[in-house]
Order: sequence, then C-alpha cells, then structure tokens
Amino acid sequence: MSQSKTNGLNHIAFIMDGNGRWAKKRHKKREYGHIRGAEVFRKIVRHCADLGIDAVTVYAFSTENWKRPKSEVNAIMSLCRKYIDEALASDAEASVVFLGDKSAFDAKMRSEMEKLEAKTAHYRKKICIAFNYGGHAEIVDAVNALIAGGKTHITEEDITGAIYSGIVPPPDIIVRTGGEYRLSNFLLWQSAYSELFFTETLWPDFTSDELDGIIEEFGKRKRRFGGV
Ligand code: IPE
Ligand code: IPE
Ligand code: MG
Repeated sequence: MSQSKTNGLNHIAFIMDGNGRWAKKRHKKREYGHIRGAEVFRKIVRHCADLGIDAVTVYAFSTENWKRPKSEVNAIMSLCRKYIDEALASDAEASVVFLGDKSAFDAKMRSEMEKLEAKTAHYRKKICIAFNYGGHAEIVDAVNALIAGGKTHITEEDITGAIYSGIVPPPDIIVRTGGEYRLSNFLLWQSAYSELFFTETLWPDFTSDELDGIIEEFGKRKRRFGGV
C-alpha cells in the first residue's frame, strides 16, 4: 500500500488495555477477555502489515502485571506460548522480537522465545512484543549494560542503541485502548515525540476501521519535534 495511505507511519505501538473489563461486562472471567484480546492482536498486526507499516509494538505484559492473580498470569503466559508455537509453524514474513526481561520465564519458554526470534531475525518487518516489559527497567538495564561494556560517560545515542527496542525507530504513534490516559511504564524513552491516541474502546472491541481512523487523524497532526 502507498506511503500516502499510512501517512508516513513507520512504527505504531499499542497498549492493548481493557481485556478484563470486556470480559466482566459479559459476566465472564478476565481470562476470557485475554483470549479475545489475543485474537484481536493477530488481526490488528495483520492489518498493519497489509497497510505496509514496517514495525508494530504491542504491550502484552508489564513488569507490574505479576501482581495479578496467578490464574490470570498463567492464562496470559499460555496465550503467549500458543502464539509462539503458531508463529514458529507459520511462514509469516515478519521478525518477532520480545522486549523485556526474559529471565523471569522458565527455560522452555525462554528457549522458544529465542528460537522464534532467531528463526525470523532476517525479516525487515518487525513485530515487537513487550512481555515482562517495563520502561524503567529497560533504561536501567541499558545503562548497566553500557557500564559493563566499559562506558564511563553515557550519551543519548548510547541509550537509544542499548535499550531492548533499539532495533526499531521510536514509535510514530502510541494507541492506548481501554479509556485510561497514561503510559503505564510503556516505551518511556522512545515515546518522547510519539503522537498519542487514547480511545475508550476496550481492546477486544478494537477494529481495523478504528485504526484506519487513527492513522487518518495522525496524517493531520503537525509534528514539530521542537521546531517551528
Ligand atoms: C490489558 O487488559 C492486558 C494486560 C494488562 C495483560 P487488562 O487485563 O488490563 O484489562 P482491564 O484494564 O483490567 O480491563
Ligand atoms: C498496561 O495495562 C499493561 C498492558 C496493557 C500490558 P495495565 O492495565 O496493567 O495498566 P494500569 O494498571 O491500568 O496502569
Ligand atoms: Mg488494564
């Protein structure tokens, strides 16, 4: 699809929020909302690829989400495993990268994540899944890695290169569904000049049409990056 269709959009990020409330509204367990949310994630990623967008980042599990009941955390972990298995078996031409601290996962899950990353590493299009991701932790880890590498004076470029998501440019757009107006520790370094969009729509109800509307609106915004 043409550049004009996506209004020069290279990287879009989503805070996929509202799964639990979506399920509660239907008198179902929160887990049910995550299952539907995972389906919508697949659909939206496909739509972004069809539009010709190079990079999509999704916030799937935060460093703070471990505070949730074990049953809910386990349900999210198994949805992630299911996605990995599916992606390993598919011939989708996109590089999948997990942003976050993998050391919290068991050895099997870690090795599956790494297998998928290695198998798809050569593709130009990127799907970044923020999983056990926190913006604070990302910056701290980057600084520690730079110190361990012998740096004594750290520049902005050093941090940009050392963060988990250094492989993609900063997001042009961050969309948060679910009606909350905050970043909840997502892409704190990268969001400096991202265009922010908030919608009341709960993630399981989010559609490609609503996304098209956001991209259209993005095209009308004046990005000045501090200039005039
Ligand atoms: C977002 O939906 C998904 C994750 C945080 C894993 P929530 O589970 O936060 O849904 P709400 O915000 O409680 O409705
Ligand atoms: C942000 O949603 C994390 C993800 C979408 C994965 P939360 O539901 O965890 O955020 P808060 O708690 O409302 O800030
Ligand atoms: Mg939430």
